[in-house]
Amino acid sequence: MVYWFLMVFLKVIIGAIQRIVLIEGSSFNWQMFSDFEGRIQCNNRVKTYLKKEALMISLEVNGKKCKVDVRPDTPLLWVIRETLGLTGTKYGCGMALCGACTVHVNGEAIRSCVTPVSSVDGKRITTIEGIGKTKEGKAIQEAWISDDVPQCGYCQSGQIMAAIALLKRNPKPADTEIDETMSGILCRCGTYQRIRQAIHRAAKKMAQGGKR
Ligand code: FES
Ligand code: FES
Repeated sequence: MVYWFLMVFLKVIIGAIQRIVLIEGSSFNWQMFSDFEGRIQCNNRVKTYLKKEALMISLEVNGKKCKVDVRPDTPLLWVIRETLGLTGTKYGCGMALCGACTVHVNGEAIRSCVTPVSSVDGKRITTIEGIGKTKEGKAIQEAWISDDVPQCGYCQSGQIMAAIALLKRNPKPADTEIDETMSGILCRCGTYQRIRQAIHRAAKKMAQGGKR
């Protein structure tokens, strides 16, 4: 009888240890999904662990100041999509290869899937939802509609953000510069010809002071 109780006791202890190791040891989840995974798992230990790691990070997103309470290594993309609910920026590869997650940080195009949110603390973030406020953004939006650029649309937020950054750098880019910049944003539908045409259209319109 004593032996039987001892065995049951040991089994319970081993099960508890395995559970803790499985949940707390999954570093992949912590890195990729930060506190969202923790909340989904709804485990007291996980919550305590994440609380210790979380920081208040200040951002200015599309002209609005905000503070986010997340782990410093959370990718900016998850903060934009999950914490702030701005889902126009897309997740493609998660490895800086496709460009679907492109946003602007202080006016520069960056890949938000590999940018830890702590590295943009205090900076100005612009997403696809906020680009209509600049002259380049407005010109690109109109040109995209005129040239009917998108096909399935998945890559287009990244394409538009990259195109605007290009026009800010060079308001009259040549074909080679357009192709070089835009080939970094993958489009499986192959809309590159129309993208090039729309960028020229936007550049022309900006040169004419916004007149058609
Ligand atoms: S999702 Fe960021 S580059 Fe592909
Ligand atoms: S429009 Fe479909 S992937 Fe680019």
